[in-house]
Amino acid sequence: MATGRVLYTDPAWLVEEGTWSRERATVEREVLGPGVELRFGPYENGRYLVDSPAMHQAAAGCEVLVVYRTQVTEELLDAAGDGLRVVVRQGVGVDNLNADLLAARGIPAYNVPDYCVDEVAAHTSALALALERQLIPQHRTLTGGTFDIYAGGTPHRTNRRTLGIVGFGRIGRAVARRLGSFYGETRVYDPYLGRDLAEGYGARAVDTLEELLAESDLVTLHCPLTPETERLMDADALRAMKPGAFLVNAARGKLVDPEALGKALEQEWIAGAALDVFFPENPHHDPRWEPVLRHPRAVVTSHRAFLSEEAEASSRRRVAELVRAALDGRVDGHPGRVLGQGAGR
Ligand code: NAI
Repeated sequence: MATGRVLYTDPAWLVEEGTWSRERATVEREVLGPGVELRFGPYENGRYLVDSPAMHQAAAGCEVLVVYRTQVTEELLDAAGDGLRVVVRQGVGVDNLNADLLAARGIPAYNVPDYCVDEVAAHTSALALALERQLIPQHRTLTGGTFDIYAGGTPHRTNRRTLGIVGFGRIGRAVARRLGSFYGETRVYDPYLGRDLAEGYGARAVDTLEELLAESDLVTLHCPLTPETERLMDADALRAMKPGAFLVNAARGKLVDPEALGKALEQEWIAGAALDVFFPENPHHDPRWEPVLRHPRAVVTSHRAFLSEEAEASSRRRVAELVRAALDGRVDGHPGRVLGQGAGR
């Protein structure tokens, strides 16, 4: 029987229709069993207090931390103490894990790298096609009382257009397969992959981001957030896009400069943008996003491209199994290891 203490810092799945209840941790209790003390981060007024003394108190003495959107910090690790064995990210992106800090302390970290590929590919396709077919202006116009086939502008035939994919990992490839079927051509920019892989997906690899931006009618981002990709889409990159092109971001908010995007929409450097992710997480917490949020050619969702009943159930079970393996000392070699002692990024 597994024993130990685990803190889930900010699990979204404990909250349903605004109410938080630890009783929802059914899968976790079933997988971990009665010998494991299950703790949850402090939740007040509709949000987790992610960087608070109460969170640090909850972490004290834990062997495993499971983080969702909480940033791993020195204070959090210090609060957990020397018994901390593993940090697990409940999700795909690992930018909040603080890789250098964990590597320096020799604490291995794991994620669930593939639980929502289907969902993100579907969500990205929905965002892209909403832009191409001007669904949001159409919906607003008709529900506002006016029947007008031209509201939002006249679309272009997607088969004459070129799709551009930045980052050709699990999600980028699924997007090529699905969304790519609507487009005449697909370009891929991923500096860490050989160029032949793209051809296996009916796409063509390009050598530079500039080339991809110059050739694509819809650019969709599927690279991780790293020091190299932060503000990848700044004013220069947005200006380098075609004037009739769209931008889709369902990867990470920090890939796009909010002020530059606001300007790009207002001054029509590009024709529209669809975003599932922002920095900060809630764009209403940063006024720089306001011009984007109220722009008629923007489509936005609340960081939920990953979400489906099936994906949530799978990620919860897989994370709980990882936690149990870590408490049993069997976690080495478990798939999903993202970094460990000396491994860096
Ligand atoms: P992955 O690791 O399979 O693929 C990422 C690809 O990006 C790799 O092929 C890598 O070589 C490439 N890459 C790295 N640096 C690059 C650069 N500078 N320019 C272009 N390409 C670069 O990751 P996966 O599963 O495809 O996920 C991609 C990202 O999507 C995640 O890092 C995460 O941030 C985001 N994501 C967002 C979700 C949401 O709900 N909105 C859900 C799941 C993931």
